[in-house]
Amino acid sequence: MSERFNQVIERKGTNSLKWDMLQERFGSDDVLPLWVADMDFRAPDAVIEAIKEKADHGIFGYPAHAKSLDKAVQSWLKRRYGWEVQENAFIYTLGVVPALSHLICTFTKKSDEIIIQSPVYYPFYDVIEKNERTLVKNPLKYNGQRYEMDYEDLESKITDHTKMLLLCHPHNPGGRVWEKAELERLVAICKKHNLYIVSDEIHADLLYDGFTHTPIASIDLEMSNRIFTCLAPSKTFNLAGMQASYVVIEDAAKRLEFKKYMATTFTGMNNSFAEVAMEAAYTYGEPWLEELMTYIQHNYQLVTTFITEHMPKIKWMEPEGTYLLWLDFTGLNMDPVERKKWLIEEAKVGFNHGAMFGEEGSNFERMNLACPSSIVEEALTRLKRAYDNIS
Ligand SMILES: Cc1ncc(COP(=O)(O)O)c(C=O)c1O
Repeated sequence: MSERFNQVIERKGTNSLKWDMLQERFGSDDVLPLWVADMDFRAPDAVIEAIKEKADHGIFGYPAHAKSLDKAVQSWLKRRYGWEVQENAFIYTLGVVPALSHLICTFTKKSDEIIIQSPVYYPFYDVIEKNERTLVKNPLKYNGQRYEMDYEDLESKITDHTKMLLLCHPHNPGGRVWEKAELERLVAICKKHNLYIVSDEIHADLLYDGFTHTPIASIDLEMSNRIFTCLAPSKTFNLAGMQASYVVIEDAAKRLEFKKYMATTFTGMNNSFAEVAMEAAYTYGEPWLEELMTYIQHNYQLVTTFITEHMPKIKWMEPEGTYLLWLDFTGLNMDPVERKKWLIEEAKVGFNHGAMFGEEGSNFERMNLACPSSIVEEALTRLKRAYDNIS
């Protein structure tokens, strides 16, 4: 296994959200953090070098946008997903969640209905509700193995006030990499009802062997004025603190509309370090990413083998992408609030509690697999100790 990823690097005391906010988050400094979606791995060397080079220059005045970045992004989308996008289709943003909010503000009005497919990444709720739009749920169906979209329910929820659907693709927390046929069906419904689709594809590069990512915007070119995609190298290369992301809008008129809105946010300038990091990651990061996904899948095997042997009442959803694992605690027959307490106080592990993603997730916990295997093993040992005490 890769030495690079086996290395345990101290993150406590580095102002890390994941490691330094345990008291605030879990009410205890004692938990092993496997929650928020960042990785305990160093970024690719080429990224670190690019940042150092920028730092060594020592002048941090106002930056101009580098055209070479557009080319690097364009080339990445073509190489990774076979998606051909014009070089001017990218609008850079200070994060995907801010981009979701900006897209909502540009293309919908207050009280308009926006659909989400729950359970889903919790800020999806906030970006709708804090912008005073109406949230409508089209819950995913759990077929005992994985989530599926409920198209009948979706159509039944659409009204004259429904304007947009927020898609999480690949799906966080369920790890689904939506298949082309599933996306085609979704696009057809949204087209029929004139809905916008805002597709959050931040996890698109994190694919398990045998899975491919189909950008939903590549499905139907007639929908290029209705489908907007949010992407970033932040999950892929562990650059969340850089706030480097972008929206892909292929239709010129819609792009202009979005840019006009963005001008009112006064956030159009990118951070110099974010730009060089993003360009280096997309230009040189592929071998690192391949190694990463091998490592994540190794951690996945570690967890599932151990659970099968020692904690058979815990199940999981087989991931197709992301570095997140959706663990199903239904078999423990515990009240979700009690289970949350038990995990913190008895097992001393810090997962994301499933109910955060919507009530449909309340029997689940989300575990982050992007850490050295020794940390995964420590988490499993802790969990087993607590499990043995109640079984
Ligand atoms: C689906 C999804 N979208 C967006 C984000 C966060 O994006 P950003 O940090 O760029 O706002 C995350 C982080 O976990 C995520 O899982």
